[in-house]
Amino acid sequence: MAGPILVFDSGVGGLSVAAALRRHLPAAALAYACDNAMLPYGVRDDDWLVKRIVDVCEAAVRASGCVGLVVACNTASTLALERLRQRLEVPVIGTVPAIKPAAELSRSHHIGLLATSATVRRPYTDRLIQSFAGNCRVTRVAADALVTEAEQVVRGKMPDMFCLRDVLAPLEAQHDLDTVVLGCTHFPLLMDWLPKALTRSLQWVDSGDAIARRCGQIVTAVAPRSEAEAAWLTAPAPELAAGLRAYGFSRSYSLLID
Ligand code: DGL
Repeated sequence: MAGPILVFDSGVGGLSVAAALRRHLPAAALAYACDNAMLPYGVRDDDWLVKRIVDVCEAAVRASGCVGLVVACNTASTLALERLRQRLEVPVIGTVPAIKPAAELSRSHHIGLLATSATVRRPYTDRLIQSFAGNCRVTRVAADALVTEAEQVVRGKMPDMFCLRDVLAPLEAQHDLDTVVLGCTHFPLLMDWLPKALTRSLQWVDSGDAIARRCGQIVTAVAPRSEAEAAWLTAPAPELAAGLRAYGFSRSYSLLID
């Protein structure tokens, strides 16, 4: 039976991936699930996180009747993709930092990785860097404060430019660094402001378009897009309604996790 593509994140970060999916697959029905009760994931213990991610994704896949799951969260994907693929019957597409395209794009061979504190230290991230950025220096910056800023932006508030400057300072200090990987799906939501928090121009790379292309290749039986698509939330968040609606998710439901 046909169904939507389900986009999952801890919070609103997956909306940056939903936007890429809308651009590449404009006729496809999407659904959104976020574990806003447990946001942020980036500072949580790994063992707890794996169980939680599997529980939430199983419940959301069931509730949405989706035909494919996009784990639109680097923090979840670099930890739990294998487990999710064992447990779910639908295809699972992960989101991991775009180290490879950034290394190919960098002229100075010095790139920055901006991600949650969990993602910057994950063995998965070490392997990506070893495999695809062997010729580059990689400056890793834990930027959990930007998750909060992006959450505010989707709630209609302006980000705190002092906070953005502070988080980006370690990248600004690296004078030969020319490319930054947005290794958290929340961060593309700040692209109207991040370049303004720096005194020089950098190239910014995220994973949204690559994920959308991959989805188009492997997910089948996708239902046609409808007027009011569903968002599943683990905690009530009426202040998110307008933000979710802007991405096409105008009906919100509670997702109960045992
Ligand atoms: N959006 C998530 C990511 O891509 C992380 C946000 C969080 O810390 O929960 O890693």
